Amino acid sequence: MADTVETTANPESANQTPKTGEGRGVYISTYGCQMNVNDTERMYSLLEMQNFEPVKTPEEADLIIINSCSVREKPVHKVMSEVGTFRKMKEKNPDMRIGIGGCVGQQEKENLIKSQPLIDFVFGTDQIDNLPNLVAKTYSEGGKHVNAKFEHRAPYNIDTLVRNPGVATFVNITKGCDNFCTFCVVPYTRGREKSRPYDHILKDVRELVTRGVKEVTLLGQNVNSYGDRDVDFAELLQKVARETDIERIRFTTSHPKDFNQKLADTMAANGDKVMEYIHLPFQSGNTRILERMNRNYTREEYLEKIAMLKRTIPNVVFSTDIIVGFPGETEEEFQDTISMCQEGGFETIFAFAYSPRPFTKAAKFEDQLPEDVKFDRLNRLFEAHDKMAFEWVKKYEGQTMKILVEQVDREHGKIQGRSTSNKLVHFMGSPDLIGKTVDVRITKAFPAVFRGELIQ
Ligand code: SAH
Ligand code: SF4
Ligand code: F3S
Repeated sequence: MADTVETTANPESANQTPKTGEGRGVYISTYGCQMNVNDTERMYSLLEMQNFEPVKTPEEADLIIINSCSVREKPVHKVMSEVGTFRKMKEKNPDMRIGIGGCVGQQEKENLIKSQPLIDFVFGTDQIDNLPNLVAKTYSEGGKHVNAKFEHRAPYNIDTLVRNPGVATFVNITKGCDNFCTFCVVPYTRGREKSRPYDHILKDVRELVTRGVKEVTLLGQNVNSYGDRDVDFAELLQKVARETDIERIRFTTSHPKDFNQKLADTMAANGDKVMEYIHLPFQSGNTRILERMNRNYTREEYLEKIAMLKRTIPNVVFSTDIIVGFPGETEEEFQDTISMCQEGGFETIFAFAYSPRPFTKAAKFEDQLPEDVKFDRLNRLFEAHDKMAFEWVKKYEGQTMKILVEQVDREHGKIQGRSTSNKLVHFMGSPDLIGKTVDVRITKAFPAVFRGELIQ
């Protein structure tokens, strides 16, 4: 950190008490989903306004925040063991403060401070905008502070705060979730579902365009239940496509029960901008398990949605999330999940062994499966899927794809970007191409990543 502080650097703060961050570095460690990545950006932006300087390692920091995730396996343990690694740093630097935010913060509140004295403050997922106040308090008053209130009645009015949006970035459109899938902690850690006003979203996208952004992903736990006044998700998508100059639009995550023909038609009608890729978690291929998960669709209904989407959107590509080893899942029911991969033709899957979460219904089901059964199923699912997917993606070899170049690749001389169908493609090319859409011929296709060559 700078030793000297120029108090006149900011005329507004001249002759006033220096801001909390003056001469202090902040480091945020981020886990979990894209919401958390966006929230971290927001925290950095808010703390920068208090003159904190973002630093790259905890060793350089005076303020450390863990933005935690609680969706699976031992999240409290993960937080505690990371905090443990800061012990020596805190002993050396009495000015150091450690805070926990995100879904574990929301879930555990003061329990975290009780079990780990190195932690100075905890804040919930609805309290990010109050973070500067909370931090100021820990510095001015010392002691321990917790703020994990849900703002149930407050409208969801926030401006997108991203420091370096790059070529492709995320814009929150909803927060929270009201679906209460029986395995999922998110409705408890993120609260009730709320939608941002559509005019705010349009303003954000227009502003991002002026900062060089070419692609936005509209983000929410369940984007297709978006609703603001008379604007539903299909209409929002159409507005973003028609009323802004953004080049590419994606969205995630969609819930199968809310994916209707109107939305599919809107995607097709705006196919020049809305990308032909849908992440549509099915979770289980067996209707009895789906019912116990409270997913509100059957295997047949899910597959009918996929068929409808394939009919409506030419070349649409799907990815999905899957849970194996849900309480009571039999071997036969697990086999239904494997066959669902085959029938749906998912080239990319994100699969997890079921993990009981606090507050959730499924955690109280009596027929929990042993860990070895769950992980054996997970391994068998990945094996079976690999066999299918390596075959399926061969069809892309030799094809030409429109790639939006996002960044330089780690490999020297290469750049990388995404196809309209969300395939990550690496190829030789100049960094000058970042932000441009170029034609690339695919030379090698693996399920998760492609190699290609630039067509000049
Ligand atoms: N809102 C999104 C996803 C939220 S969490 C949706 O509805 O699909 C991301 C994924 O984590 C879920 O799709 C699910 O596959 C997985 N997941 C959630 N809770 C889990 C649990 N208790 N055990 C294992 N996987 C879980
Ligand atoms: Fe969790 Fe279900 Fe909501 Fe997704 S839709 S966040 S899985 S409760
Ligand atoms: Fe994790 Fe919370 Fe996201 S539990 S997946 S950080 S909503």
